Amino acid sequence: MPVSTDLDILGSRVENVGFVDHAVDPALDLYKEIDLLKKRKNAILLAHYYQEPAIQDVADFIGDSLGLSRQAAETSADIIVFAGVHFMAETAKILCPEKKVILPDLNAGCSLADTCPADEFREFCDQYPDHLVMSYINCSAAVKARSDIICTSTNAEHLLRMIPEPQPVIFAPDRNLGRWLERKTGRRMKIWDGVCIVHETFSERKLLALKIEFPAAKVLAHPECEEAVLRHADFVGSTSAIRRFAREDQGHSFIIATEEGILHQMRKDSPHKRFIPAPPESGCNCSQCPHMRLNTLEKLYNCMEYELPEIHMEESVRVRALRPIERMIEMSTGVS
Ligand code: 13P
Ligand code: SF4
Repeated sequence: MPVSTDLDILGSRVENVGFVDHAVDPALDLYKEIDLLKKRKNAILLAHYYQEPAIQDVADFIGDSLGLSRQAAETSADIIVFAGVHFMAETAKILCPEKKVILPDLNAGCSLADTCPADEFREFCDQYPDHLVMSYINCSAAVKARSDIICTSTNAEHLLRMIPEPQPVIFAPDRNLGRWLERKTGRRMKIWDGVCIVHETFSERKLLALKIEFPAAKVLAHPECEEAVLRHADFVGSTSAIRRFAREDQGHSFIIATEEGILHQMRKDSPHKRFIPAPPESGCNCSQCPHMRLNTLEKLYNCMEYELPEIHMEESVRVRALRPIERMIEMSTGVS
């Protein structure tokens, strides 16, 4: 059973640290059991594209950060089971304080969110009091609470273009997404120097070698990748945009520069097409997010059975973090 000490993760107070460490009977059909738990508890299971395929297959909704936030905001379920990382489940809790929000492993954080501690971020913003603060959803509730508007990789360009010039803007925490937005819109911003450990490991050198090996393959990349990788991309977009591009494009082979969990849905969408994960610099499994991959089917089952671990946060932080998220949702109607 879980450890039950309190801990501060990313600035918000959470209990029941870790995950439910209870041996699962290997004879159980976990797909069936998880489905039964969903019905019995009126729970909705939301999964990000970066989850392992088995978790994606049992989810009610699979999506990107924006799609998952929208689902959380609209659900009538009593329990939101979030198969993703902490900031995603936390966003669901900010939107739905009356609901129980659980995730299989509370240690599933985000290296990018960790690069932006709330106290340092507040000091940074205070230096530029005339700046509007736009934060990528991959950040803590405390950072959201200091922001004017939240964005995801799906709506960031759309939202930035809606902020009238010459309003100066702070963008945090992803420097690669920030710089990509600058190149797309021609607008200069004050950018926080954060980076994702998964997307920064893709190797330009190995990508170029792969392009020689597969000359017809199109490169599809997430804007969290370094500029050196993005400059070789045929298409740059969020996970859902990359998935849509691959489904609708006439091409037959694609090199994918983002977390490789996305390949599961792409292969289901287009079984006749070839999807090649972009290579990281070393021979590691670095194109799998180590945080996302902490969630397993067994932990998911235990989490639903015991309704633990649960997301909690201070109400004052939640209320301040809510407005910039609501603003994002309102201002990106029709964007997907
Ligand atoms: P999406 O907005 O595409 O879901 O990206 C989330 C993420 O964590 C990328 O690393
Ligand atoms: Fe965070 Fe990177 Fe993992 Fe996305 S892939 S959740 S940005 S560490």
